[in-house]
Order: sequence, then C-alpha cells, then structure tokens
Amino acid sequence: MQVCRSKAAIRSTIAAFRASGAPVVLVPTMGFLHEGHLSLMRLGRERAGADGRVVASIFVNPTQFGPNEDFDSYPRDEARDFDLLRAEGVDAVFAPEATEVYSPNAQTIVETTELAKTLIGKLRPGHFRGVATVVTKLFNITRPDAAVFGQKDYQQLAVIRTMVRDLDMGIEIIGAPIKREADGLAMSSRNVRLTPQDRAAAPILARALDEAEAMAPTGITASRLRSHVRATLEAEPRARVQSVDIRDATTLETISGPLARPAVILLAVSFGKVFLIDNRVVHPAQEET
Ligand code: PAF
Repeated sequence: MQVCRSKAAIRSTIAAFRASGAPVVLVPTMGFLHEGHLSLMRLGRERAGADGRVVASIFVNPTQFGPNEDFDSYPRDEARDFDLLRAEGVDAVFAPEATEVYSPNAQTIVETTELAKTLIGKLRPGHFRGVATVVTKLFNITRPDAAVFGQKDYQQLAVIRTMVRDLDMGIEIIGAPIKREADGLAMSSRNVRLTPQDRAAAPILARALDEAEAMAPTGITASRLRSHVRATLEAEPRARVQSVDIRDATTLETISGPLARPAVILLAVSFGKVFLIDNRVVHPAQEET
C-alpha cells in the first residue's frame, strides 16, 4: 500500500493506477478505523473489481468541527489504521497534514444551502460546509470514479449526494449499511471515548430504533412515533437527547400524519462529552405508490 502525504504524491500514484484504465474508488475517513470503516473498504473493493484500485483517505478535517467540539480529542492511531488498510488490500492511502489540504488564504467553500441548515446542521452550525468543502477537495485531488460513505451519517450522505448532483461532479456515491456492535450500538470512532457506564447505556439508541421500526407499520403518526422514541431515550438517565427527527427517507423533508412512505428516524444523543448519532429507515404497512 502506498502512503501519500502530499497532493502531488497521491495524484501521481492514482495517475499510475489509471494507466490500466481500471476504476478508482475513494473511501474518505477520519481514521481510527473500526469494522464499520473496513466494511466501506470491502464495498469499495467490490465496486472497483479485481483490477480496480481502492484509495482510502485519513484526515481529521478541522473545518467540520465547531470551536467547542472534539477536534483535539478526536481519537487518532495512524500506525494501526495503516495496518488495517494493508490487511484489507487497500492500494493507497492519502494521509495529509491540514496545512497540505488547506492553504492559509483559502476563500472558497462548498455548501448545500438548505440541507446544511437542518437537523445536525442546526446542532453543529458550519459542520456540513466543512464536510462538503473537504469532500469536494478530496474528489478534486483524487478524481475517483466512485466513493463510499457510511449510512450512519445519513444526513452527510444526503448532503454529498446532493452536492454531486448539483455540481455535476459525475462521481458515483455508494452508501454502506451501518455496522453494529453485538449489543446494537452503531460502530463509531467516538465509542472509545465513552466511560464504561455510558458505553453500557449507549445501546439505548438502537433499542429505541428497534421499537420504532416495529411500531411504524401500525398506522402510527410521525409525531406519536417521535414522542415514543424520545420517551424511550429520556428514560435512560445517562443520555442527553439532542434531537429526535422523523423525515422523508429520500428528501429529508418533514412529515406529518400517519407514515405513508419510508421514513428515516434520526437520533443525536450525548453521553457526557461524547456525541453519538444513529438512524433507521422504517416502513409503513402498505406503502403508497
Ligand atoms: O464521515 C467522515 O468520516 C467525514 O465526515 C468525512 C466524510 C471523511 C469528511 O471529513
């Protein structure tokens, strides 16, 4: 596996890969890899095919963290990440310093205007501007045929799909299913920062989603389902519920009344200083066509 620290190095590595005409698939990450990330690499390999190339990036992007967020304490272990990527057969990794990615006088940002303001965008103002900008830069640096992102960051995936569509980027975006621990907790690099007590309490998110999935086909209204999920989460004293939303699974628009189409339940819950998200797409009994 080639380790590239500079834009020039990853560009020339990918140019050599492309000489054979085989596809290049990018898997952007912020490192501290877990089984969820490795499942993205495997999807990337499937899309690339035996002759194609899988390129990962590891970059804890400062512009997507707010001033009081966990940029400094975000877990990092590059040597271990490289070993895991090698074991997965990843062809190259782009692992730059922030100074390599951002020039000090940068003036250009990328923003999905409406999507970036709602849901997580309300809790973390500027977050999706940072994500859209860095993903655009990673796309421009690596020029992949396809890129893989996890569905755990449901709104992020919607932001990236919208950006690719609106800006005619011509890159196929592949969404990867959420990977879970045995007790249901969605895998996240942040899970290691949970105290043992919070780690024991955190599967409440998955339990609340399981209940909601079972209730969705009963004709329940979106607002009653939302109240039920919130009450389940609030019954866990260690959980600080930041938001519970039920939105159209495709457009992320608000919905009211009984569920008529697939809906996504989006949770944001803090345990101490650790901010966790999770989601589930649920279906009414008989979907309208
Ligand atoms: O999902 C992530 O890890 C990050 O938001 C991403 C897409 C790599 C951009 O920094």
